[in-house]
Amino acid sequence: MYCFRKVTDALYWVGANDRRLELFENIFPLRDGVSYNSYLLMDEKTVLFDAADYAVGRQFLENVQAVLGGRTLDYLVVNHMEPDHCAMIGDLVLRYPDMKLIGNAKTFPMISQFFDFDLEGKMVTVKEGDTFSTGKHTLHFVMAPMVHWPEVMMTYDETDKVLFSADGFGSFKALNGGIFNDEVDFDRDWLDEARRYYTNIVGKYGMQVQNVLKKAASLDIQIICPLHGVIWRNNLDYIIGKYDIWSKYEPEEKGVMIAYASMYGNTENMAEVFAMMLSEAGVKNICMHNISKTHVSELISDSFKYSHIVLAAPTYNNGIYPLMDNFLEDMKALALKNRTVAVLGNGSWAPQSTKLITSKLGEMKGMTVLDGAVTVKSSLKDAQMEELKSLSRQIAQEVL
Ligand SMILES: Cc1cc2nc3c(=O)[nH]c(=O)nc-3n(C[C@H](O)[C@H](O)[C@H](O)COP(=O)(O)O)c2cc1C
Ligand SMILES: [Fe+2]
Ligand SMILES: [Fe+2]
Repeated sequence: MYCFRKVTDALYWVGANDRRLELFENIFPLRDGVSYNSYLLMDEKTVLFDAADYAVGRQFLENVQAVLGGRTLDYLVVNHMEPDHCAMIGDLVLRYPDMKLIGNAKTFPMISQFFDFDLEGKMVTVKEGDTFSTGKHTLHFVMAPMVHWPEVMMTYDETDKVLFSADGFGSFKALNGGIFNDEVDFDRDWLDEARRYYTNIVGKYGMQVQNVLKKAASLDIQIICPLHGVIWRNNLDYIIGKYDIWSKYEPEEKGVMIAYASMYGNTENMAEVFAMMLSEAGVKNICMHNISKTHVSELISDSFKYSHIVLAAPTYNNGIYPLMDNFLEDMKALALKNRTVAVLGNGSWAPQSTKLITSKLGEMKGMTVLDGAVTVKSSLKDAQMEELKSLSRQIAQEVL
């Protein structure tokens, strides 16, 4: 059975949810699934904005067919060529052989890389600022390179003031009936997954996101239709504000994320003692992760969220405990900047983790490593409590 919803008088959400997928991109665990949003504009011409993942292909095609109600599909706007949105293009071409594809100069070579069908006579190539009339609606194309991939563009419907924002403003998490931001409790149920999605998928490209936000500021946007997650139809400043903060690598909250690794519990014990010291110094906003249990995508999300980070890990074969090393590499790859970090290390014969973590942080931009990093040999002893306390006081002073 078809399952679609109206967005405006002429626009329909024809996407679908996947609550079976374990790992998005075969990397990121999905607790609550993901939606692949696709939108169909019923104007004098019929226009589909992006397709969907193969996993939801059957539902997606049924939705498109139902909304078309016997009409054919005239155009497909390809804002993004990643297979979570483009996988169904081949099937659409078979079903609607007269359909033309609207993309930019970088879109079509990618279509040919992914598919074998003949593009001859099917291409409408657009560039920055071009417009395209579908009847009552005028589409206006805004290039958004690297707001996930190089071919990404956004499409603005000048008539209804709708921005089709590709992966921008997207989120993990399936849509549970409500498809609009005002139909869900976003802060409670969506913000964490939206942040985890942004920071891990697009986080590296803060500058490119800033460029698009500047272009968007000149458009009168009433509705944002992303390719994942809820559609924004009010309170747009809220989500644009979040994107602005995230893409500038500014912390969302003053607070401390403690991320520790520990094989036998001694580094963990030091992290616990440190957390209590912070609390006794008056810090309320503390979150703690055993990084062997928490997926690195959650760690990345929280490292973007909090102003201060505490990293604690043992030495492992003269190196950093592997999962901590992996977390640090991920932070570096995603270009996290401008955080204040305290480092706690451990080792039984030649402790190196404190020094190695500090040096890796030095490879990232704008990271301030607090003086007075603490290194213990095997376990924390009374003699080092004062050292630890002094480090915790430095953080508390900055956070409070
Ligand atoms: C496989 C392995 C490799 C280790 N390599 C080192 C090392 O290179 N240098 C060192 O000082 N300690 C090394 N250690 C010892 C741990 O860093 C040390 O025992 C530490 O106290 C463990 O902390 P935990 O109780 O939080 O797991 C190693 C331990 C293991 C199990
Ligand atoms: Fe993408
Ligand atoms: Fe996507």
